[in-house]
Amino acid sequence: MDRVKVTLPDKDYEILIGDGAINLACLKDKPFETKKILVLTDENVAKLHINKIKKVIRSKHYYEYIIKSGEEQKSLINFEKILEFMLTHQFDRESLIIALGGGVIGDLGGFVASCYQRGIGVFQIPTTLLAQVDSSVGGKTAVNHSLGKNMIGTFHQPLEVICDISLLETLPKREFLSGIAEIIKYGVIGDLNFFCWLEENIDLLLNRNHLALKYAIKRSCENKRDIVSEDEKEQGKRALLNFGHTFAHAIENLTSYNTWLHGEAVSIGMCMAAELSNNLGMINQQSNTRLKNLLAKSGLPTRSDSTFNVDEFITVMSLDKKNTNGQINLILLDALGKAVKKSNTPKNMISEVIKSY
Ligand SMILES: NC(=O)c1ccc[n+]([C@@H]2O[C@H](COP(=O)([O-])OP(=O)(O)OC[C@H]3O[C@@H](n4cnc5c(N)ncnc54)[C@H](O)[C@@H]3O)[C@@H](O)[C@H]2O)c1
Ligand SMILES: [Zn+2]
Repeated sequence: MDRVKVTLPDKDYEILIGDGAINLACLKDKPFETKKILVLTDENVAKLHINKIKKVIRSKHYYEYIIKSGEEQKSLINFEKILEFMLTHQFDRESLIIALGGGVIGDLGGFVASCYQRGIGVFQIPTTLLAQVDSSVGGKTAVNHSLGKNMIGTFHQPLEVICDISLLETLPKREFLSGIAEIIKYGVIGDLNFFCWLEENIDLLLNRNHLALKYAIKRSCENKRDIVSEDEKEQGKRALLNFGHTFAHAIENLTSYNTWLHGEAVSIGMCMAAELSNNLGMINQQSNTRLKNLLAKSGLPTRSDSTFNVDEFITVMSLDKKNTNGQINLILLDALGKAVKKSNTPKNMISEVIKSY
């Protein structure tokens, strides 16, 4: 089993990555006996995988809380219901949450854990590729509000993240590819060697070869770890993780979150950001094409095929919470493997890219 150590000023934890990691991570040997454990998951994951967790946890006080699946479940209503469940069952400050699921469960479970009695421990067991390489790492938690996604949340680092590759076998193809988009992002923004590895090994990854997956998940977690460790509370370098995302968030918003999965929108957004970098003379056409080819070969979308109203698109981009002083802050490329933050991109250059996608 591989281990990625995350070192933060006031907390260290490990990300364990491997086949059957939920068994190998020895959840069964952890001193859970006297603790109350709440396994939070959604209906899909419960049907497929919850028994595996139940089998390895030795606690006399094992509880399950199963919600419906879907982004809309990441809500204040569920947050309150889970807290009420824990209070009713007299969970105390030593109690633990195990968030077993995709990013929705990880964000919601992390948020509950950070608030219950001012903070209890949470184990993240991500079951989607996106959650294994992205949402479970870094300690961001959140729920959505009708006025904005992820607008209510905290930073709460997990006790441990356990990425069990075998859990990914049941993941639907589109969800799997959504995670591949975020993996490719790590290569593009800061790790050219990894990008080249992805170009050579993409077929193995798409066939869900366990060794290839293990390597790609590890490199992704290391890349995110390196960025997050330098900037735990998102004041600087962490913004680079947003490559492709300002465009993606606008695409998701303008298609009412019902057309593209997040990773698909990110794939299109990365193409737009690369195109803009190319138009601004920051990268050459060859780098631009290499990124698009890799995304296309993965089966990810490289354009939206919608006719967006450009002004509306720019207005939505301007609402991005990473903007400051009325400027649209964009993450662009100085080279393949080197992302940079730019705050003064001319609006007509942005419009041109939106029109052509
Ligand atoms: N905290 C962060 O830093 C961070 C980063 C990126 C994304 N996110 C959040 O993550 C969420 C998206 O996460 P996601 O893409 O994992 O979505 P998700 O949690 O909705 O999972 C996607 C779907 O896959 C199903 N599923 C999960 N694991 C499965 C498995 N092993 N087999 C079969 N089906 C399975 C789920 O039931 C769901 O229907 C968003 O809410 C986003 O805001 C958070
Ligand atoms: Zn993302």
